Amino acid sequence: MKFISHVALLAAAGRLIVRADEQVVLTSSEEQMLAPMNVAIIGAGAAGSSTAYHLARFATAADIAVNITVFDRNDYIGGRSTTVYAYNDSQYPVELGASIFVKVNTILTDAVAEFNLTTSGMISRTDDIPGADIGVWDGQNFVVEQNSGSLTWWDTTKFLWRYGLAPARTMNLMKSTTGKFFKMYEEPFFPFVSLTKTVRDLDLLSATSATGEEYLAINNIGSAFGHDIIQASTRVNYAQNLKYINGLLSMVCMATDGAVAVEGGNWQIFDHMVSAVNAHRVLDTPVSDIKSDHDGSYTLNFQRTSTEGRTQSLTQSFDAVVIAGPYQYANITLAQGIDHTPKKIKYVTLHVTLLTSPHLLSPAFFALQPGKAVPKTVLTTLSPDEAPQAGPAGVGRPGFFSISLLSPVPNPKTGGQDYLYKIFSPEAPDSTFLSSLLGLPKGSEAESPISEQDISWIYRKIWHSYPYEIPRTEFDHIQLHDDLWYTGGMESFISTMETNALMGKNVAKLIVDQKMDKLRMKRESYATDLPLVLASGAT
Ligand SMILES: Cc1cc2nc3c(=O)[nH]c(=O)nc-3n(C[C@H](O)[C@H](O)[C@H](O)COP(=O)(O)OP(=O)(O)OC[C@H]3O[C@@H](n4cnc5c(N)ncnc54)[C@H](O)[C@@H]3O)c2cc1C
Ligand SMILES: *[C@@H]1O[C@H](CO)[C@@H](O)[C@H](O)[C@H]1NC(C)=O
Ligand SMILES: *[C@@H]1O[C@H](CO)[C@@H](O)[C@H](O)[C@H]1NC(C)=O
Ligand SMILES: *[C@@H]1O[C@H](CO)[C@@H](O)[C@H](O)[C@H]1NC(C)=O
Ligand SMILES: *[C@@H]1O[C@H](CO)[C@@H](O)[C@H](O)[C@H]1NC(C)=O
Repeated sequence: MKFISHVALLAAAGRLIVRADEQVVLTSSEEQMLAPMNVAIIGAGAAGSSTAYHLARFATAADIAVNITVFDRNDYIGGRSTTVYAYNDSQYPVELGASIFVKVNTILTDAVAEFNLTTSGMISRTDDIPGADIGVWDGQNFVVEQNSGSLTWWDTTKFLWRYGLAPARTMNLMKSTTGKFFKMYEEPFFPFVSLTKTVRDLDLLSATSATGEEYLAINNIGSAFGHDIIQASTRVNYAQNLKYINGLLSMVCMATDGAVAVEGGNWQIFDHMVSAVNAHRVLDTPVSDIKSDHDGSYTLNFQRTSTEGRTQSLTQSFDAVVIAGPYQYANITLAQGIDHTPKKIKYVTLHVTLLTSPHLLSPAFFALQPGKAVPKTVLTTLSPDEAPQAGPAGVGRPGFFSISLLSPVPNPKTGGQDYLYKIFSPEAPDSTFLSSLLGLPKGSEAESPISEQDISWIYRKIWHSYPYEIPRTEFDHIQLHDDLWYTGGMESFISTMETNALMGKNVAKLIVDQKMDKLRMKRESYATDLPLVLASGAT
């Protein structure tokens, strides 16, 4: 009796093997089933960290043991969510990459709550500084100035007069378009094995396959509002003009109500996600190869650099591997014979420049009267006579995508007040540009360095920030091969911290579901032997 219930128990767990002498033992293949599933996640950004976090949770719920290892070539968790410090002083954190998310981004906001992080809005810190909160500059004039305190454009009477129904129609279109996207979080859409199919099933193809310009026209949104407001938003968020970015992204860019950032840095969300589930962190470690083994597992090759600077090449085997970052920049050699190799897609090269200066932005630079304050956030659009272009040339006459005065900061050396700025541009801003922007007297040489009195701290970073979000109907595969996964296809659908975190969660669910399916199949193949086993056990 005892024996039979033991057998039943093991059979239920899919781990039954019975020898002729009627003792239940585990063979080596069964030991593997008891051993945890070893999963490697390559990339500790939003996608990889979310994969780790959700994989642990889904696995626990399904009673599957997992052992998660997260690799990153950076020495920090967060990827494109990363923080640097003005004057290199930890009191003054500033986002170098992804800076904002919104309330409806539930993976991020749930994590913020779970990890007791604090968020804050964007504009409050500059209240005492003169100037409108936001202005849209076309390289010659400010076409719009707003004191809304945030990027909400819908409800002002000024706008009604100027743009008629376009703001209200944009809001409705934004809500209906992004509303379809939010279905991806729930059954029957979640988890999704094909982004291409899901986009079609969600009826989002009309948005992804049209340019922003076309999508607005189809939906009766006047071109003036598109040009002045929506394009300012697509340029600051994706460095792209409406004629080239797709309709879906043009709407995503308008969904900025309630934008917040984590105090101290958004990367903390992802760092906590990895810690919360005790995933192994293997940082400062590029993975160079993924080889497939005969038994269906994968061997990773990775390089660790010792404190003495010696590079050591190591290998480790995993049952499943997730590539959680853009494949084309991963510098990984993939095993031969993989079902799907991710395609190369064009990414924006974005120059982010952070700097502190005691100077406010120069009115002269923006062709304003002397003494007139420049808006604290300057977004850009094109001049009316300027043809929109694709790629870096799309920046047009303004020469930059955005300049924001983030906050006042006390200069640690002089004790005086500085301002902290962030500039997005397709090229590195040179001394001539910066001098003119800050209203400094012209130096004798064009490229003479600016003195520390005028720019007290500067930090430059070049990102492959996000794809050129051109109209498309097909998105990269999520499953590249059996037990080999890829999150990066999400980026040519929507590239944000939240969406990439959603893709990580999706991959986590698919891994657990497939593992369950495999266990079930094994169990069924044992179950066919069960009557025989029980019969012999009963003798
Ligand atoms: C300037 C800027 C502003 C942005 N603004 C916003 C914003 O306001 N809001 C928003 O939501 N999104 C924003 N984004 C987009 C957002 O940052 C990305 O969509 C998101 O962070 C991508 O997450 P990910 O995990 O997919 O990729 P990543 O964050 O790039 O993570 C991939 C990781 O993989 C690692 N890796 C790659 N190859 C290897 C390898 N071979 N071995 C080991 N490690 C490897 C990389 O080091 C990296 O850390 C912005 C991006 C930039 C650059
Ligand atoms: C779990 O992963 C770690 C780090 O990759 C590894 O060192 C360890 O051997 C793994 N444990 C098991 C039981 O496989
Ligand atoms: C910034 O601060 C860190 C830690 O205090 C220090 O290790 C590093 O050298 C500093 N960098 C610069 C450029 O001063
Ligand atoms: C967050 O705060 C709550 C209540 O203060 C506490 O119970 C919980 O452990 C905290 N969580 C973390 C991750 O610090
Ligand atoms: C790509 O990886 C190889 C080793 O596999 C390394 O030598 C090379 O420096 C890497 N390139 C980049 C751009 O990281």
